[in-house]
Amino acid sequence: MLDVATGTGVIALAALEKYPNSTIHAVDFSDRMLTEAASKPGASAIRWQHADANDLPFGDEFFDAVTHGYLLRNVDDVERVLAEQYRVLKRGGRVVILETCPPQGLLRYPVTLGVRVLIPLLGQVVARDRESYAYLQKSTLGFMTPEEVVAILRRVGFASIAWKKKFFGTHMIISAEKQ
Ligand SMILES: C[S@@+](CC[C@H](N)C(=O)[O-])C[C@H]1O[C@@H](n2cnc3c(N)ncnc32)[C@H](O)[C@@H]1O
Repeated sequence: MLDVATGTGVIALAALEKYPNSTIHAVDFSDRMLTEAASKPGASAIRWQHADANDLPFGDEFFDAVTHGYLLRNVDDVERVLAEQYRVLKRGGRVVILETCPPQGLLRYPVTLGVRVLIPLLGQVVARDRESYAYLQKSTLGFMTPEEVVAILRRVGFASIAWKKKFFGTHMIISAEKQ
């Protein structure tokens, strides 16, 4: 499998723990992140590599599965990035996406207020970095809804798409298959 925008490798390492016999590639365009990921316990079993999600250095139909967490809200062209993942997946392979999304429905106003107040406050008190956490707050509330991401996945060619929301409607997990 391939974990794109692996950061410190949390998803790649969790996948390895669950599927110890699998071959896992993990890519990110930040060398600092990759260095930190590669220094974690158990990390030597994973193939860490510098790569941009817009232009993956793998052949067509190479992977059984692709994962990524918190990638899409950081890229300029979501459709291009998902098309690239479609290209490297084998037929019958799946992509699983973890991403933030704006809360909707009844939860919209209380959760929006909570995110606006709590995230920058936590950033200041815990990480002493209010600005980065203000960005996190803005990108969480400003990103696409699951329906919008699903529409792009369909345009790219994915089928059998399913999604669910988590954490008071502020996160989504979407899976889709290349048929
Ligand atoms: C918020 S971190 C998430 C890390 C990890 N997926 C996780 O869930 O813990 C976002 C990561 O995406 C990477 N990233 C953003 N745009 C990228 C791109 N175009 N190509 C590769 N990596 C990218 C950043 O370097 C960063 O490590």
